[in-house]
Amino acid sequence: MSEPRPHPIDVIRFYAENGVDIALDEVAPNRLAEPAAIIEAPRRDAPKPFGAPAPSARPVAASRNIAAPEAAIRDAGQLAANAKTLDELQAAVESFEGCALKATAMRTVFADGNPQARIMFVGEGPGAEEDREGLPFVGRSGKLLDRMLAAIGLDRTSAYIANIIPWRPPGNRTPTPQESAICLPFIKRQIELADPDILVCLGGPSATTLLELREGITRTRGRWFEYDTGKRKIKAIALFHPAYLLRSPAHKKLAWQDLLAIRKALNA
Ligand code: URA
Repeated sequence: MSEPRPHPIDVIRFYAENGVDIALDEVAPNRLAEPAAIIEAPRRDAPKPFGAPAPSARPVAASRNIAAPEAAIRDAGQLAANAKTLDELQAAVESFEGCALKATAMRTVFADGNPQARIMFVGEGPGAEEDREGLPFVGRSGKLLDRMLAAIGLDRTSAYIANIIPWRPPGNRTPTPQESAICLPFIKRQIELADPDILVCLGGPSATTLLELREGITRTRGRWFEYDTGKRKIKAIALFHPAYLLRSPAHKKLAWQDLLAIRKALNA
């Protein structure tokens, strides 16, 4: 006797619970075909103009041109260095095709807040809500970040907010070290061009990437470090990520201490 087939809803629930919450392509790729013959569905952020003919399927190799990691890191570094303003940098990030995450994300999430602010917050990467809106920290953890900012008299007019990775990893998975390395030149240049007095790394991945720390966030949070922007050395601190605080509210007390230290540094 054959096994009963699972109900389609149960299959979708199983996928969602395991982080598969988006459909990447509208056309099923033939994984057995040669790479150049794989058919790619059109990107979701390139809507078809009304009345235009349906876009034809194109070979991946010809259309997406994902560079090898070393080349992608080099290209990102060159594009970042050539950008003389934050607007130029944003355009460069939006035109960059070297990171595969861009192909699955709906939007490039560059920044929010005031680029002239004295303080810059850097998170890990966009989630589903950020991907939909194209702005960092607008989902649940963003709402908590807003309350944390308000607690020390800040808001998005007096703080600048960005992420290490500007594209949402599918299913909110952790970005691979390769993806972080490819995106790193962009966030470093963004910090250099924004030129804040204080850099706040939100969460362990942001702190380990930008401050090159080996210890975890429970050990590094609340300590002051020096960050070299390329132009000058500024103060940097790591803070628990708001998403972590939503899961572990008992740690809000420590986060509050760190926020007060940030306020004091801003006042100095
Ligand atoms: N988490 C992040 O690290 N960044 C965002 O923009 C949203 C959630």
